[in-house]
Amino acid sequence: MIPTLVTALLAGGSFAYAAPEEYDYVIVGSGPGGGPLAANLASSGASVFLIEAGGDNSRDIAQALPARQAFSAENAPHSWQYFVEHYGNNETQARRDWKYTYRQTNGSLYTGLDPPAGATPLGNMYPRGATLGGSAQVNAMNLAWAPDNEWDYIAELTGDSTWGHENMRRLFMEMENCTYVPHGTPGHGFDGFLQTTISNHDRDMMNPGIASFFSEMFRVVEGIEVSANDTAEMARLIARDVNGIESDRYESKISGRMNAINPSSGNRSGVADHLNNIVAGGHPLTISLNSLAQKVLFEDCEGTPKAIGVEYQVGEGLYSAGQQYDESQTGEVKTVRAKKEVILSAGTFNTPQILKLSGVGPRDELEEHNIPIVAELPAVGNFMQDNYEAPLIIRASEPWIVNTSSPCTNTFNASDPCFLLWQNNGTGPYTSGGGFYFTARSSQSWDNDSDLFFLGAPGRSRSGFFPGYSNGTVEPNYWATSMIKMQTSNAAGTVKLLSTDPRIAPAINFNYFAENADRDLQALTEAAEMLLAGYDGTGIPYELITPSRDNMRQGILDESFSHHATSTCRMGPDSATVEEACVDTKFRVKGIKSLRVVDASVWPRVPGAFPNGPTFTMSMKASEVILGLE
Ligand SMILES: Cc1cc2nc3c(=O)[nH]c(=O)nc-3n(C[C@H](O)[C@H](O)[C@H](O)COP(=O)(O)OP(=O)(O)OC[C@H]3O[C@@H](n4cnc5c(N)ncnc54)[C@H](O)[C@@H]3O)c2cc1C
Ligand SMILES: *[C@@H]1O[C@H](CO)[C@@H](O)[C@H](O)[C@H]1NC(C)=O
Ligand SMILES: *[C@@H]1O[C@H](CO)[C@@H](O)[C@H](O)[C@H]1NC(C)=O
Ligand SMILES: *[C@@H]1O[C@H](CO)[C@@H](O)[C@H](O)[C@H]1NC(C)=O
Ligand SMILES: *[C@@H]1O[C@H](CO)[C@@H](O)[C@H](O)[C@H]1NC(C)=O
Ligand SMILES: *[C@@H]1O[C@H](CO)[C@@H](O)[C@H](O)[C@H]1NC(C)=O
Ligand SMILES: *[C@@H]1O[C@H](CO)[C@@H](O)[C@H](O)[C@H]1NC(C)=O
Ligand SMILES: *[C@@H]1O[C@H](CO)[C@@H](O)[C@H](O)[C@H]1NC(C)=O
Ligand SMILES: *[C@@H]1O[C@H](CO)[C@@H](O)[C@H](O)[C@H]1NC(C)=O
Ligand SMILES: *[C@@H]1O[C@H](CO)[C@@H](O)[C@H](O)[C@H]1NC(C)=O
Ligand SMILES: *[C@@H]1O[C@H](CO)[C@@H](O)[C@H](O)[C@H]1NC(C)=O
Repeated sequence: MIPTLVTALLAGGSFAYAAPEEYDYVIVGSGPGGGPLAANLASSGASVFLIEAGGDNSRDIAQALPARQAFSAENAPHSWQYFVEHYGNNETQARRDWKYTYRQTNGSLYTGLDPPAGATPLGNMYPRGATLGGSAQVNAMNLAWAPDNEWDYIAELTGDSTWGHENMRRLFMEMENCTYVPHGTPGHGFDGFLQTTISNHDRDMMNPGIASFFSEMFRVVEGIEVSANDTAEMARLIARDVNGIESDRYESKISGRMNAINPSSGNRSGVADHLNNIVAGGHPLTISLNSLAQKVLFEDCEGTPKAIGVEYQVGEGLYSAGQQYDESQTGEVKTVRAKKEVILSAGTFNTPQILKLSGVGPRDELEEHNIPIVAELPAVGNFMQDNYEAPLIIRASEPWIVNTSSPCTNTFNASDPCFLLWQNNGTGPYTSGGGFYFTARSSQSWDNDSDLFFLGAPGRSRSGFFPGYSNGTVEPNYWATSMIKMQTSNAAGTVKLLSTDPRIAPAINFNYFAENADRDLQALTEAAEMLLAGYDGTGIPYELITPSRDNMRQGILDESFSHHATSTCRMGPDSATVEEACVDTKFRVKGIKSLRVVDASVWPRVPGAFPNGPTFTMSMKASEVILGLE
């Protein structure tokens, strides 16, 4: 048997493969964590090799057209669909969720509460982007930057003031091209790669029921009276900027929905285009698509392991979480060497998987899989967190959306006038993700910021991920809202290896509500009460579909889901032990030289609101740290 490269190198032996290619930096993963970093390092003149498991589908309408967002998150070749456990330690509770999915004996999936005999439990579907630009190419494009308090928390926790909100704001401004406030507005950037817009709700507010609901919510959330007839005042309030420089921007507010959308083309804005522009501009960036990283390679450096390269497989459909996965396929194995550093940016599930496959992780788990230990780091794959999203769904006795006639055919081709409008003019109904968002503060917030985010859409009857979720049709009497609990206080999630085969997705267990359940359930119950007060105030009769009024907490436990996973390689102060933290504030993996992690897995806790904007900003920070510019 040929010894693996890692053992050969650790033993100081030479190896007989063809000399691998060599670059200054090797980065794994091109999402919000890895993408801007790769672009910035290459623009500074360093040679960069970027390994991305997916292909470049950024010009496919499934990614470019905002209206196709849910489709892209559920379909190859854009994304992977993991199946995760929400309650891996409580099967009874896990299976009370109708979204829980099984594989039937004939191979088909079953989602529901009454699985046929012999069906194998799979878990809850959890999509992730697997494409150039990462999950930001398939996500819902909501761009809500973190509250100042969240940045200052990291600075305080770690003693590294460069994580404070002022420095992070500067980096946000560098990457942003804000198109919804006047040029020069403090706190926003206008020259960056990420274009931001604000949703326009004027049409929504033409529906009296919707306007009436918002009028009620202004009273419930902010204590202000706004007449449902005063559409100008509604529009003014809804345009308040959750990403502005005001430190009170996260106090309970019905504020605007900011998006990562290019208003000129009506296309999604992300880092994929930027990466392609960097390559086209002649900068030394090499992107290796359809390349699944399987292992970091090390050599011994004065008694400490030093990352010197990455081993990866080239091929399509290599990963088991993908719909194109074919067990019989193995890719061509290649290696690439890093002169300076290796940076892992494969996301919250894959970064810990790669670390563990490389021998960096908890001792017992590595021993169980006979993986030689390079560095004992128990924090890898531990402390996973997420924002909870609890659905609240109602069906009213009359339609919320009065005028349901629409020219859109949803065929997204030349016979679809809405598609043509987007294609020819960059405008129309398809250029928005749809729905509303606003924040509110429950009694459980740990500061003045809102700890609740409401993401809802009249006309929707479902909320959450399950096979087929993206096939939503408009049902005008329904209104589904995802009540997002930020500032969650449960860090009991885990990512563990199921196999030493890098093609096999790990076991992901969120262990929902394992810690501080009362706090989070109380906040979500208050969230439900706020929404119900709003619906009650409209005077429109309605039926509450979920959660049940009689046992709201159980309903929240049963149907909560999430999609902002973080912290599987969390950051801590220099004094943190390997049990407590995985990287330091400069993204360096503890106990290893020349290896960093830059992605959502390093957040000490979920960064308040939505992770996309903050993770992009983290990548900008890592660029400065690595280039020594800080
Ligand atoms: C459906 C959906 C909707 C969302 N909506 C929002 C939203 O509206 N707003 C928001 O702020 N956030 C949203 N998010 C979350 C947000 O997109 C993520 O938090 C963010 O993208 C995380 O960035 P990342 O760089 O850590 O990981 P990712 O973006 O997941 O990037 C990781 C990259 O690494 C690649 N990769 C993984 N493993 C390997 C490997 N072994 N070898 C090579 N490459 C590998 C992947 O293909 C991927 O491109 C959503 C996510 C999803 C899936
Ligand atoms: C918008 O996306 C489409 C592909 O769906 C592409 O043809 C077009 O060039 C994009 N526009 C810009 C400005 O990127
Ligand atoms: C598991 O979940 C069920 C349903 O919520 C609950 O009744 C039970 O107490 C839970 N068991 C444990 C051990 O937490
Ligand atoms: C498997 O069985 C289910 C239930 O009987 C059926 O709906 C489904 O079509 C079957 N799938 C295949 C591939 O035969
Ligand atoms: C910023 O966005 C606007 C609107 O799409 C565009 O016209 C402009 O060229 C962009 N600026 C940069 C520096 O990319
Ligand atoms: C809004 O206007 C309508 C008719 O113009 C009126 O009947 C209704 O009372 C008004 N509602 C509010 C809340 O002012
Ligand atoms: C309803 O919407 C359609 C399509 O947007 C529009 O053409 C029509 O004028 C609207 N009708 C009314 C009564 O508002
Ligand atoms: C558009 O798609 C629909 C549904 O797939 C199809 O019936 C129609 O013929 C297509 N039209 C064009 C012009 O391609
Ligand atoms: C085309 O876009 C411009 C703005 O870019 C807009 O003013 C105009 O109304 C759009 N045309 C149509 C037919 O929607
Ligand atoms: C919270 O708000 C109150 C009232 O505006 C203010 O006095 C207090 O300083 C704020 N607390 C924090 C931690 O910002
Ligand atoms: C969505 O529905 C279409 C048409 O019914 C079907 O072809 C497709 O497979 C469905 N997609 C998913 C992901 O279930």
